[in-house]
Amino acid sequence: MNRRYRKTVIAGNWKMNKTPAEAKALINEIKETVGKVKWCDVIVCVPYVDIPAAVKACKGAKISVGAQNIHFEPKGAYTGEISADMLKELGVKYVIVGHSERRQYFAETDETVNKKVHTVLEAGMQPIVCVGESLQQREQGVTASVIETQVRIALNGVAKEQMRKIIIAYEPIWAIGTGKTATSEQAAEVCTGIREIIRSLYGARVARSVSIQYGGSMNAKNAAELLAQNDIDGGLIGGASLKAPDFAAIINAANQ
Ligand code: PGA
Repeated sequence: MNRRYRKTVIAGNWKMNKTPAEAKALINEIKETVGKVKWCDVIVCVPYVDIPAAVKACKGAKISVGAQNIHFEPKGAYTGEISADMLKELGVKYVIVGHSERRQYFAETDETVNKKVHTVLEAGMQPIVCVGESLQQREQGVTASVIETQVRIALNGVAKEQMRKIIIAYEPIWAIGTGKTATSEQAAEVCTGIREIIRSLYGARVARSVSIQYGGSMNAKNAAELLAQNDIDGGLIGGASLKAPDFAAIINAANQ
């Protein structure tokens, strides 16, 4: 973390978990468990149908609600999809874009990620753009080039002033949901590399203002060490965000 230049952002990614009633209960539990949130932004990215209940439950707390996906077209014949206007009207502030599960199971590509980044920004919301290499790519030694391609295409056409609204989440695919966390050195190396790419595209001032999260089995135990790295400005948390005490512990680690 480097609070002098940028925000620390702790975001829960609930994936396909919790009904609206369960969402309300979990948020209330998080609110009761977490201490005073002073130094970081807290987000819960909930399933679409949970959004109204989540927004209501988050009222008065320093927790924002995010979505896990969006469609890039503004409206029309796209059965089963959800538009930016729909999310915005419900009070959504952040949208996860290009999560590896969307890339893997729902044919999300770097190009659709880029379109969605623009859609989210134009609607006045903030994208959390996910990038990450597979285990095979890491073993082949191509992590840096894979990440660079993903970042460059995701940001294609994004203006300098828009860049400040973007959060990048580095999520090595092999660490997601596996209990295998990247070491703080591995995570920091890639996050520093991402900041370097942003610097080459937008200059040093913008680069140092962008929050870059780590995601992949971040939990109550390893959060503090990961967050101690200068270029890791928070976390995108799956499994551990579904347990109030664990999520609260991660928030408290970011709040130190
Ligand atoms: P995990 O998921 O924390 O359960 O590994 C992270 C994510 O997919 O965003």
